[in-house]
Amino acid sequence: MNTPFTEEQLRAALSSVSYPGFRRDILSFGLVKEVAVDGADVKVQLVLSTADSKIPAQLRTEIEIALQAIPGVGQVKVLIDVQAPVAAPSAGPVPLAGVRHVIAVASGKGGVGKSTVAVNLAIALQQAGAAVGLCDCDLYGPSVALMCGANERPSANEQDQIIPVERHGLKLMSMGLLLEGDAPAVLRGPMVTRYTQQFLRQVAWGELDYLILDLPPGTGDIQLTIVQTIPLSGTILVTTPQEVALLDVRKAASMFRKTNVPILGIVENMSYFLSPEDGKRHAIFGTGGGAREAERLGVPLLGEVPMEPAIGHSGDVGEPFLAGKKETQSEAANVIARVAARLREMLP
Ligand SMILES: Nc1ncnc2c1ncn2[C@@H]1O[C@H](COP(=O)(O)OP(=O)(O)OP(=O)(O)O)[C@@H](O)[C@H]1O
Ligand SMILES: [Mg+2]
Repeated sequence: MNTPFTEEQLRAALSSVSYPGFRRDILSFGLVKEVAVDGADVKVQLVLSTADSKIPAQLRTEIEIALQAIPGVGQVKVLIDVQAPVAAPSAGPVPLAGVRHVIAVASGKGGVGKSTVAVNLAIALQQAGAAVGLCDCDLYGPSVALMCGANERPSANEQDQIIPVERHGLKLMSMGLLLEGDAPAVLRGPMVTRYTQQFLRQVAWGELDYLILDLPPGTGDIQLTIVQTIPLSGTILVTTPQEVALLDVRKAASMFRKTNVPILGIVENMSYFLSPEDGKRHAIFGTGGGAREAERLGVPLLGEVPMEPAIGHSGDVGEPFLAGKKETQSEAANVIARVAARLREMLP
């Protein structure tokens, strides 16, 4: 049937409606189950998982306004099916109860310092007074547990949820704490997806201001599963100044953009080496790469973290370089603390 408007216009209108309290729209959240057109009339069906009775009413009004703004649209009918909030881990991204902001630390290339940035950023946020959780989402090479010196096996509560381990004032969870030996190598394809979903939804985080996710490198199954399972407040992209790392950061940025995850900014790691001998900056991997890429993507450059030998050592002994420090000589620590302050402003 011919209509005076296109499906494209309907989708655009629906994607202008964000879920209350989130920047993400209802379409990318996967909440719109059906859009039916009958002549000039439009019927939209939503499936929500919320205990807040104000949300369906608010969404209904916003959807009606958005669709009726399209020339030619007649009657708009919005049907909302509200399910119990604990339901359906597979029903698109559903917010984690009690967690205000989920931030993914990601990169295209491996070994650029994601885990180092994630761990120390979590500590800096905690030191600034926030309740923080840190989740290692790398099935194949989990390192958060190691970097934080955690090695006990987590226990479960009565609801069969995994209780995070507490370390350095953080609630920590790592697939590395659950898997033994070389078990991760057998996880492939759909199993990775299922395992990641289950892992994300079955941890008893409690009330958190920030949950930091340390992602594996690249744009594979794990990353996609994460963005489809829980709504992210945003992502931080970590890169080194090298061209190869920057190229890969572009790919990661494009994946996050396609899945509507806001890019909060870039952290350039290993930006320079500050020589203790002459006090001079040595740009080992070149200069300005992170800044140029941030500009290209139209996102802020959140910080440039220098190379410091103590960082490598602190990761190896399970004592993150920001842990337990109030005053520090370390420029890397100061940069990370400033990134944390910036994040708190962006995501209060
Ligand atoms: N600014 C720095 N100065 C010195 N060493 C660093 C710095 N950042 C990271 N490193 C070291 O570089 C190595 C790689 O860092 P890290 O494990 O954080 O990277 P990653 O991006 O998480 O790696 P992967 O892709 O394998 O997950 C580690 O040994 C870490 O201690
Ligand atoms: Mg890592």
